[in-house]
Amino acid sequence: GNPSAGTSAHAISDNSSPIVSTRRTGIIRIPDEGEGESSDAPFLPVSSFLIPPQYQDAVSHVLIPHGLIQDRVHKLAFDINQEYADKTLHLLCVLKGGSSFFWELQTALINLSSHRRTNTAKFQFSFDFVRVKSYEGTESTGKVQITGTDMKNLRGRHLLLVEDLIDSGLTMSQLVPYIEKNAAPASVRVAALMEKRTHRSCGFKADYVAFDIPDLFVVGYSLDYNEAFRDMLHICVINELGIEKFKTNA
Ligand code: HPA
Ligand code: MG
Repeated sequence: GNPSAGTSAHAISDNSSPIVSTRRTGIIRIPDEGEGESSDAPFLPVSSFLIPPQYQDAVSHVLIPHGLIQDRVHKLAFDINQEYADKTLHLLCVLKGGSSFFWELQTALINLSSHRRTNTAKFQFSFDFVRVKSYEGTESTGKVQITGTDMKNLRGRHLLLVEDLIDSGLTMSQLVPYIEKNAAPASVRVAALMEKRTHRSCGFKADYVAFDIPDLFVVGYSLDYNEAFRDMLHICVINELGIEKFKTNA
């Protein structure tokens, strides 16, 4: 049985049993540089890891090693599996940046289902890949374009948007209401690999967050700078040379 009478504020809106919410729990806070009593040397130097040679001089340090990403995403998958225990979840991977996170998450969800010993839990998932364009600088909300799926495919479904990074939060703050209005899903939540601590934040908060990161430009693990760095496993901080080296001529 279920251990708790979860609060209705956190319950998914249908008539199934209540679930303890694990949303926004266990978020790992990656500290700012020089925070606390650390030295001025980077905590995770490039020389300690395998980094593609073209990127070694283009990043200042490793911010989140691949292994830590995997471990934390496995926990998110466990939480999601528990919370949607008797439901069919429809994952919407936000391309391209969300693709590595999505892949890790869906593999972990498959493993959890495969290791299930009884047939009492009914969790299952389907997925789609979407591209999202937001028009920042316009005041009206709803100025958002989603391609790769039809709004009518999302009707009545429990949706989980899988996003790499909440920076200003403008895209998600427009996308979620847009989907709610135009697709009439059963529920919409957002899983973000990272949330940036930045003064540019519009206040949007994701439902599931793996890492809380400093206000730095991060690359790797499908996150890019002009399409470079997606093919690097670790999440790193770009440096001045990297910004120059991978500048586009456009
Ligand atoms: N990295 C990559 N892409 C981004 C970032 C970032 O830190 N912020 C907004 N888009
Ligand atoms: Mg990008």
